[in-house]
Amino acid sequence: MGIIESINPASEDVIGSFQCTNLNDIDSFLEQSSSKLLSWKYLDMDARITVLKKFSTCLEAKKTDFINLICQENGKSLQESQLEVTASISKIQLSLHAFENRLSATHLETEAFKFSTTYKPIGNLVVLGPFNFPLLLPLGHIIPALLVGNSVLFKPSELTSLVAQLCVDCLYEAGVPKTALQLVLGGVDHGKYCVSHSKVDGVLFTGGYQAAQSIANSLSSSPEKMLALECGGNNPLIVSSFKNKESVADCLIQSAFLTSGQRCTSMRRLILIRSSQTDHLLNTFLDRVRLLTIGSYQDKQKPFMGPLISEIARKKFFQYVTLIQKLGGTTLYESQQSFAKGYFVSPYVFDISSCYEKVPDDECFGPLLQVIYVDSLKEAVQVANRTSYGLSASLISTSSEEFDYVYNHVQAGIINWNKPTNGSSSQLPFGGIGKSGNFRPAGYFAIDSCVYPVASVQNKQFL
Ligand code: SIN
Repeated sequence: MGIIESINPASEDVIGSFQCTNLNDIDSFLEQSSSKLLSWKYLDMDARITVLKKFSTCLEAKKTDFINLICQENGKSLQESQLEVTASISKIQLSLHAFENRLSATHLETEAFKFSTTYKPIGNLVVLGPFNFPLLLPLGHIIPALLVGNSVLFKPSELTSLVAQLCVDCLYEAGVPKTALQLVLGGVDHGKYCVSHSKVDGVLFTGGYQAAQSIANSLSSSPEKMLALECGGNNPLIVSSFKNKESVADCLIQSAFLTSGQRCTSMRRLILIRSSQTDHLLNTFLDRVRLLTIGSYQDKQKPFMGPLISEIARKKFFQYVTLIQKLGGTTLYESQQSFAKGYFVSPYVFDISSCYEKVPDDECFGPLLQVIYVDSLKEAVQVANRTSYGLSASLISTSSEEFDYVYNHVQAGIINWNKPTNGSSSQLPFGGIGKSGNFRPAGYFAIDSCVYPVASVQNKQFL
């Protein structure tokens, strides 16, 4: 049986080594969790809520362990890890809230009949988690799935198995039974095994488009299965006008370079409506990029950006850099900084105004920003929509009419005004159109993909 190793991307040290889950264990879990007698599903809702609240306490108690582990295994900064753990703790309360708001039973009554809509769990769900938010994003599906009574097979990214293991240990400690939750450690083949298992009723996925396509293909002859896909984007941010150049520059830095650009909502394209104001903004922004600190979370000088997740990710990143250069992108920023070890890269900023039509519509998962100058808001929106993705978009403008125009014409599931493209609110749906998903958003709406509605008409008269 295979072994997977967990590597600290800042030091390249092996920090964990795991035996891949035995496929027979997946079979037995699915067999057991389908059995009515053992089912978590038949527990009282209040009992499940109590367990999940205990889990929240458990996360709180182990906060420091989680923060350190996320830093070590994912490479993100201490501050970003802290935010991830805090947001994960809030997930429990937010899922309860979402349940009450979106899935409350409805009853209507006439003299003769009762009409009701209630919601039931789907059954056995596979949650496929990404590496970039190894705790928060899987929990965004696991918590609502468990809350309403599903059983969960959790297959994390093989790059962040340690965080996943600690998370599942905590869920067990809180009282989630082993018949309701199983961790699956392994690579792509393990994921495929789970997805195409006959006893699996649905798949909740967060990750890249190619993986999503392959999942959808393996389920193409099983339309009866729930499939929720949350993928990436080639996200545009349009700048028209503003009052405070420094705050806008901050917003651009956050949008493009938080988590070293490894967010599905990261700004990939900065669309500037040509003016002296946007020219000055670009200069201020580039000055800020020059000052960005890159390093390990343990460095004395706290880094803004950590490494990319793996050597493969770094290679792909440089392939994209080379491609943009070949296609005629003008380098606005690149650094000569070299790194003795770790999968670090420094940011790249290209002006692709003269060649953007040739640049492939891909999601480059790293700190690479493409700048495009345009002459009007109308043109900016046309350029913004030149993508088959549609996750996130932003407008920086002092005009509400301009925001209305962007809101009405930009094709994306998240459209912000004077806010970064990323840092999505957990109180809102999280998902996009086109290659960014399949209209089954996560975030506040994740609970919808964990249930099916049951309609019932009850005749009060004896027949
Ligand atoms: C992500 O899902 O990659 C990012 C969440 C966010 O920052 O919006």
